[in-house]
Amino acid sequence: MLRRRLRNGLVTVNMSIRRLPPELINRIAAGEVVERPASALKELIENALDAGANQVGVRLHAGGLGLIEVADDGCGMAAEEMRLALERHATSKLPQDSIDRITSFGFRGEALPSIASVSRLTMESRVRGADGWRIAIDHGAAAGEGPAALPPGTRVKVEGLFDKVPARRKFLRSPRAEYAACLDSVKRLAMARNDVGFALDHDGRRILTLAPAEAPVRVAELLTHELDRHGIGIDCARASMRLTGVISLPTFNRGVADQQFLFVNSRPVKDRLLVGALRAAYRDLIARDRHPIAALFLEVPLEEVDVNVHPAKTEVRFRDPQAVRGLIVGGLRHALDEESGRSAAREQAAAPVMWTTSATYDQALNRHPRESGDSPVLSTLEERQAPAFAGVTVLAEDQRLFAEAPAARAEPAVEPVPSFPLGVARGQVAATYIVAEAEDGLVIVDQHAAHERLVLERMRAAREGGAIARQALLIPEVIELDEPDCDRLEGASADLADLGLETERFGPTSMLVRSVPAVLGKTDVAGLLSDLAAEIAELGGPLSLRDKLDHVAATIACHGSVRAGRILSVAEMNALLREMEVTPRSGQCNHGRPTWVKLGHSEIQKLFGRR
Ligand SMILES: Nc1ncnc2c1ncn2[C@@H]1O[C@H](COP(=O)(O)OP(=O)(O)OP(=O)(O)O)[C@@H](O)[C@H]1O
Ligand SMILES: [Mg+2]
Repeated sequence: MLRRRLRNGLVTVNMSIRRLPPELINRIAAGEVVERPASALKELIENALDAGANQVGVRLHAGGLGLIEVADDGCGMAAEEMRLALERHATSKLPQDSIDRITSFGFRGEALPSIASVSRLTMESRVRGADGWRIAIDHGAAAGEGPAALPPGTRVKVEGLFDKVPARRKFLRSPRAEYAACLDSVKRLAMARNDVGFALDHDGRRILTLAPAEAPVRVAELLTHELDRHGIGIDCARASMRLTGVISLPTFNRGVADQQFLFVNSRPVKDRLLVGALRAAYRDLIARDRHPIAALFLEVPLEEVDVNVHPAKTEVRFRDPQAVRGLIVGGLRHALDEESGRSAAREQAAAPVMWTTSATYDQALNRHPRESGDSPVLSTLEERQAPAFAGVTVLAEDQRLFAEAPAARAEPAVEPVPSFPLGVARGQVAATYIVAEAEDGLVIVDQHAAHERLVLERMRAAREGGAIARQALLIPEVIELDEPDCDRLEGASADLADLGLETERFGPTSMLVRSVPAVLGKTDVAGLLSDLAAEIAELGGPLSLRDKLDHVAATIACHGSVRAGRILSVAEMNALLREMEVTPRSGQCNHGRPTWVKLGHSEIQKLFGRR
């Protein structure tokens, strides 16, 4: 080989083509198939499942960096098969070489040789009725074989993964982080195959024991049992596709998207199309930095999907991606819309109700809120047992404690209480919350969150009905913004005009606003424009016009809403409550937070120890 340094510093090489030695080919393949312990673990579990295991046992040390061991009670292999299994492209899983009709997890015959080329691997296996055998490989080289004693099935042990591959080693994270990734791999496969039992040990500690169970039970065990209350079951079909599973109510969300489990024909995938569709279904029900919890199982005919597109087999390609997206967005959206009614009717089971346990009472009684010492001032209603202060009279000199309550105002009670689901307004607290009395309890409404939702739904209804009323400004306003923001707004001006916001470019760094959506009333136009510009910048991607308009409408709605801090008249409060009752999706604001909570009479009684 001849190297020559060019003036620009690059090196050219006179190349002669040669075949790579097999160990090197294996290592290159390994780099793609096994990135980290979790990917090796995933391959081993997949092999166990493909072998028909009913029970899979996993043992890890140091997040898989020390040891990964997977034992199964599957079909096992004879010695000769074991030797073949460790060769590249040797697989038992493609009958008639039908790469387009794959039903097993594996199909390439690459995983074992790849792992064996970057670790010390020992494989023991035994076919029922025969003797067991053991083969050891040290970084791709044979390291001995012989008889082994084990129950029918296979046990693969991987030690010192990447110890001799510094380029990979460098990218590994702490054992803790690698362990988290391993746990994720186990969970995904355990969800994919709820009919199989799993056990996981890490550093000698039992982490998971899963008996075979129905899919919803398995999912609940691995996600959170809270989904029993905060989840929505999904079961929908279109043409030859079917989608089942569970998603969380918008109010039950997370700061990271780490609880989204997606499967195509029982194969765990991390596919962008599917993640995007899930996101789109929650559009405007959840803040952009919050994420729903989901376990979704998509069944499609084998010929509709190609699984051979990604080295780790975690992405797929659909023949008709739009149909898949349509099924997911449509199916989830429908379920979420139905649920918006149910959650409102169910006394907001969707939102864990936080209620102050009277710390003031506890102070008045001169003792700690809880004897245990971890003194939570807030506890959820569900957790709360009969309060300890039952029956004790509060001393007169402690009355001052109550003087520190937030400023509030109340209206004289009207008799009888008309039967509105959200009740009649009784007052306003902290100029932010409306307190209302319903037949069956006490309702607290976040006025800004609720109103924002109403404005958005009004705009949406108006748009669907044809046009959004606009209100011309007497004197058009000129708004100064930076140039990229102006470019963005100019590019979106047709869409914005559809929403009632007429703008025009007015020089390099300013926009002229001629009209605003009538629903907004008097509004801070400059603030609105700069928020919209940011919104458009963030949306950027290839979203449909409809998707975009909804986002933009949500931003506009936020501006047009009564702010927290505004004093409302009783008539205004009641009008808000009545409109909420008839508006779809009014149980949560555009950011997925609840707009109201209800405390039932029985819960109030419990708080006061009357039950
Ligand atoms: N736990 C196991 N029990 C029984 N046979 C196994 C087991 N693990 C591997 N094998 C056999 O070894 C072969 C090679 O396994 P390997 O994981 O390398 O490739 P694969 O599963 O066929 O394809 P892929 O590379 O896509 O995973 C398999 O086809 C299977 O026949
Ligand atoms: Mg495999």
